[in-house]
Amino acid sequence: MKSLGIIGCGNISDIYLKNLHHAENCQVVMVADQIDERARAKAEQYGIQSKSVEDLLADQDVFAVINLTIPEAHHSVAAKALLAGKHVYGEKPLALSSRSARELIELSQKMGLRIASAPDTVLGAGIQTARKLIDDGWIGRPVAATAFMTGHGHEGWHPDPTFYYQAGGGPLFDMGPYYLSALFQLLGPVARVTGIASQAFAERIVLSQPRRGEHIVVNTPTHVAGSLEFAAGAVASLVMSFDVWHANLPRIEVYGSEGSLSVPDPNTFGGPVRIRRFDAAEWTEMAMPFSPSDNARGLGVIDLVDAIAQGTMARTDGTIGLHVVEIMEALLESSRQGKHQDILSRPTRPPAMELSGRDLPR
Ligand SMILES: NC(=O)c1ccc[n+]([C@@H]2O[C@H](COP(=O)([O-])OP(=O)(O)OC[C@H]3O[C@@H](n4cnc5c(N)ncnc54)[C@H](O)[C@@H]3O)[C@@H](O)[C@H]2O)c1
Repeated sequence: MKSLGIIGCGNISDIYLKNLHHAENCQVVMVADQIDERARAKAEQYGIQSKSVEDLLADQDVFAVINLTIPEAHHSVAAKALLAGKHVYGEKPLALSSRSARELIELSQKMGLRIASAPDTVLGAGIQTARKLIDDGWIGRPVAATAFMTGHGHEGWHPDPTFYYQAGGGPLFDMGPYYLSALFQLLGPVARVTGIASQAFAERIVLSQPRRGEHIVVNTPTHVAGSLEFAAGAVASLVMSFDVWHANLPRIEVYGSEGSLSVPDPNTFGGPVRIRRFDAAEWTEMAMPFSPSDNARGLGVIDLVDAIAQGTMARTDGTIGLHVVEIMEALLESSRQGKHQDILSRPTRPPAMELSGRDLPR
């Protein structure tokens, strides 16, 4: 049983604390936050220790750190953890630039440690079923795909939504990792991209408590349209937007030489997965021979701990996080330059989940 420490006790920390309470190979034993009382409150709630960030990193018992800080802090916190000799699993995005993401990969290699990054939704029943259907040839050779995430931002519900409108936030860096990690699972690495980014509103007004009525100056594009060419040849169209109130778009669809696949919301672990072969009159909802389907955030941590023990590739290995960051950065750079951008990283596609899947103990 490996001991874990969480750094960052905000909104998303509860689901990790809940799901990793009874995991079979690891357990969260302590938490830290730059705001001490947040760590103390979580520690009390879950019956674990609260420490300062420095004390957590110095603790010999901690095998791996789960980095749940805001995107701007991901690089510095992960680097500190690696330098302290800890493996790292971090929330998405891995870092704010491909350069700093690459630095983390290199540092982990130098230290003989592993780094992996969210999302682990790609290990859920929905995306794993879609991957298996493509790999087994149900839609023939993939030729194209669409990936759409439209909404009006997070200031309506998140208690502290400022980071969503800074570099490292916006719809692309916030939601893009779900869609791009899923497309990577389904279609492999991307070879080049082109993008156009815009920002429809100069300010956002917070509608949630406790900051209701405050204005947030928007410092990042809030609508990004892109084209991705995969190394294997398929071409995907992508829209990531916080500027749209309502839409009728699918989340992800993959179009093959022999049919089409409707892929579920990659921000969830479940389905439905639907297929329509070229000669079918209707879409068919497919059985999902994998699990889990419910919110199993933390599964990537369990997989990382297993991968370290077995000397195999973690299914959310940091090299995939780097690839995703490189794609997102290149979409924005393409918009600035008005040119295609080549993607240099070519991560290995990790092994699929086992057919029976893996449920979290409850
Ligand atoms: N909220 C969600 O629904 C959600 C869902 C999926 C992923 N995420 C991701 O999880 C991460 C955290 O999101 P959140 O919503 O929990 O944010 P949050 O603002 O609610 O919490 C972040 C916490 O990190 C702490 N922190 C920031 N910098 C730190 C540092 N340098 N050292 C120590 N602590 C530090 C903050 O004090 C805060 O308590 C982000 O990367 C986000 O993209 C959030």
